Amino acid sequence: MCGIVGYVGQRSTAQVVLGGLARLEYRGYDSAGIAIITPGNALVSHKRAGKLSVLRDDLATNPLLDGTTGIGHTRWATHGPPTDNNAHPHLGDEGKLALIHNGIIENYELLKRELVEQGETFHSDTDSEVVALMLGREYRDTHDVSTAMQRVVARLEGAFTLLAVHANQPGVVVGARRNSPLVVGLGEGENFLGSDVAAFVAYTDKAMAVGQDQIVTITPDSVTVVDFEGKPANATPFTVDWDASAADKGGWSSFMAKEISEEPEAVANTLRGRVGAGGIVTLPELDAVLGDSVSISRIIFIACGTAAYASMLGAYAIEKWSGIPATVELSHEFRYRDPVVDASTLIVSVSQSGETMDTLMAVRYAKEKGATTLSICNTQGATIARESDAVLYTYAGPEVAVASTKAFLSQVVATYLLGLYLGQHNDRVSAELSAQLAQDFEDLPDQLEEMVQTGARIKELAGWMADTRSVLFLGRHVGYPVALEGALKLKELAYIHAEGFAAGELKHGPIALIEPGQIVFVVVPSPRDPSSLHAKVVSNIQEIRARGARVIAIAEKADAAVLPHADEVIAVPFASTFMEPLLAVVPLHIFGMELAAAKGLDIDQPRNLAKSVTVE
Ligand code: M6R
Repeated sequence: MCGIVGYVGQRSTAQVVLGGLARLEYRGYDSAGIAIITPGNALVSHKRAGKLSVLRDDLATNPLLDGTTGIGHTRWATHGPPTDNNAHPHLGDEGKLALIHNGIIENYELLKRELVEQGETFHSDTDSEVVALMLGREYRDTHDVSTAMQRVVARLEGAFTLLAVHANQPGVVVGARRNSPLVVGLGEGENFLGSDVAAFVAYTDKAMAVGQDQIVTITPDSVTVVDFEGKPANATPFTVDWDASAADKGGWSSFMAKEISEEPEAVANTLRGRVGAGGIVTLPELDAVLGDSVSISRIIFIACGTAAYASMLGAYAIEKWSGIPATVELSHEFRYRDPVVDASTLIVSVSQSGETMDTLMAVRYAKEKGATTLSICNTQGATIARESDAVLYTYAGPEVAVASTKAFLSQVVATYLLGLYLGQHNDRVSAELSAQLAQDFEDLPDQLEEMVQTGARIKELAGWMADTRSVLFLGRHVGYPVALEGALKLKELAYIHAEGFAAGELKHGPIALIEPGQIVFVVVPSPRDPSSLHAKVVSNIQEIRARGARVIAIAEKADAAVLPHADEVIAVPFASTFMEPLLAVVPLHIFGMELAAAKGLDIDQPRNLAKSVTVE
């Protein structure tokens, strides 16, 4: 969950590292720190609890001596609270070695006991400091950080990305990874390391993804990769397909505001070039593993949070269009219940970051069981994408705000493309349906643009709800995942109690929550929808209104049946069933953001969270 940066080259290392940390801060923002090897071969470092700005302010008043080799870290606390001492880097070899760590060292207590017996003193509560002290001891023996790293990783259990520098080896940064991400940025006379490409995309678009159980050593002119036994290994090269400005706020008040405004574009980019004449879906990246889709007996989506809600919509669509049974499981539940998974199972993981540890572990579990694995992912070169049999990229562009928005829409669209692709391959989708969906896809970006324009009204609503302590969300069929997504956004952004319910479940318990003044958002299906759900949801509205609820309906523009029963209607353009949720979710994304703003909260970096959850 932490952000990690390493640099060797002729630029100001302090600037490169702090700039990289600013772009990675979404990964964790409890504390931050930096270490630099100075031209006189001294190691200088500084670290502070709090956001990166606290560290920056300190360094503006008392700058560190700059150099050409350095590492930096922005933390999401696992072991030990966010204090100055627990911030990274941690030092070893009497202050000459600095180490930063992302992940969890599961056997740190045992290692710590050994180190204490050997006379080492600890200055933090972290699991990471054991690695700094072990590396320091091994360095004294080997005089080489890479060799020392090989010896140390052999003793570590758990998940880690580690970066280390030593004052006696200027111009060298060594990284190692197991189950946590690490990417190399390839420059001219300089090289970079980062948790993801955002760390260095301002300087280079040439990158290499360091593989599982690999150690990488960068100097200004070389990148050397070995495995944990020290044997030569290869990292996977790729070109970053977005530039640095894509990860900038670009004048918006928050990344989240910018990313909501990019929802239409994220959808358009994910669809681009994939839907041809007559709605025929072309996904050459899937042909090798899914061309013969008749061999798939069922599909299980695995995902967490927002990605799981996107998967629910995908499962509904895929089952309907391809006739292949499709279900969704939370990644962290999936592998612990001994699920039936075999060679005829297609596991579809959905992850914006492609680094979510729970999802990665579920993918590995499924592979062991012989399943085919497909990753729907937004981040090039991410671990889950690389470890899956095939990857269907979403093209939402970098998503920096912790609350996922444009990635959600692009994930839903990608699952729909998958559903159509499968349905067309097994001849379950008629030419009429293909053509209709192609038209729907074409209309979608403009319709989404219309929804983004509801922002001003939603802001007003959020303004008068700033003191609200609880909001409920109801939806049915494709509206249900939207209700869940709306509730999650309020929890994570506005820190208030929020629940999403399947509207049909209301009478089975949740209706007891309704008391006068309770705010309820209701996602209403189109009255033109061929199912009879519209009438049922309108009845639900009447039931809760009769008990005093204040109803905000998200309903189709011309839906006269809803007007008399709702306190407020957010109008959605007419769309077919599977497009409705994509439109309905936009005002809920805006609402979460605006309610957080009305409460004066940090929109992009909500408390206790981090963008990628790379620990279990
Ligand atoms: O990177 P992923 O898509 O795997 O992340 C999954 C969830 O952690 C993520 O969607 C989370 O729920 C968001 N913060 C919700 O806005």
